[in-house]
Amino acid sequence: MQLLRRNRRLRTNEAIRSLIREHTITPNDFLVPIFIVEGKGIKEEIPSMPRYYRYSLDILKKEVKELWSLGLKSVLLFVKVPDELKDNKGTEALNADGLMQRAIKTVKDATPDMLVMTDVALDPYSSYGHDGIVDDGYIVNDQTCEVLAQMSLSHAQAGADFVAPSDMMDGRILAIRELLEKENFKNTGIMSYSAKYASAFYGPFRDALDSAPGFGDKKTYQMDFANRDEAIKETIMDVEEGADIVMVKPGIAYLDLVRDVRDSVDVPVAVYQVSGEYAMLKAAAEKGWLDHDSVMLEQIMAFKRAGAHIIASYFAKDVVKLLG
Ligand code: PBG
Repeated sequence: MQLLRRNRRLRTNEAIRSLIREHTITPNDFLVPIFIVEGKGIKEEIPSMPRYYRYSLDILKKEVKELWSLGLKSVLLFVKVPDELKDNKGTEALNADGLMQRAIKTVKDATPDMLVMTDVALDPYSSYGHDGIVDDGYIVNDQTCEVLAQMSLSHAQAGADFVAPSDMMDGRILAIRELLEKENFKNTGIMSYSAKYASAFYGPFRDALDSAPGFGDKKTYQMDFANRDEAIKETIMDVEEGADIVMVKPGIAYLDLVRDVRDSVDVPVAVYQVSGEYAMLKAAAEKGWLDHDSVMLEQIMAFKRAGAHIIASYFAKDVVKLLG
């Protein structure tokens, strides 16, 4: 054959492949989720998330220093709240000396330049395990937004750089932005979980925080996974309400949306590779059915290729260590 174009010439060896590579993975891409518990000296493995841990605040200090030394400069904090502190209104979420508020200070003490983002939703604090206030089986929207705004303010006062509302109530970005502006936290950012689907991939996370819904499911506020156009509506509304960064969640099964959102808004786009995605790969690798590191890198690269600027992933540390 005498072909004018042969694509394989550009794949001949690693040098040419790396020369023409369209996307790369660096530590700058990652946001590291961290689970925090009360107590001392605690580093406990989450059963459904092998080699992922909950940390008490003293161990958290060491952990964030290690992340920083690896070039990981952003964390997303989640707390596991003791049952006796849970109620319907998430009262404990507003405690200035609560676990989240102390965790923010702990990270800032240990690693002052670390970017600290915090999860904002009621589920870890809710006796019902729902993201909002429950009234007669319904998750009340507007009253929940008021609590979410207060919660965000409390995180900002403790030193959070960004708040990350993950609850999917209508109007919460506006409520949070207005309160932060009014209280003069003008530089506190909002990363909105703007296209968050009602997903079965969140199972292991709910084990990690003991936050599974006590009744029903989250389908009256999280999105229906049959919908695509709706993700754009949700995302554009959040940008209009003041979101600095938007997010698609979960990750690998939702790459079409990462690309749609990237093409539809002018703010950075994050993707969350969630707990169930982490668990699936760990389990398959343990069985010897998949090569852990190769599949991990392939998935992370898929997020970059789809258009994500930021990747929240439980694999962040593993990836960065592997890249060396
Ligand atoms: C809480 C929240 C959830 C996740 C992040 N924030 C769970 C949920 O909505 O039920 C899931 C993260 C993961 O599965 O890794 N609102």
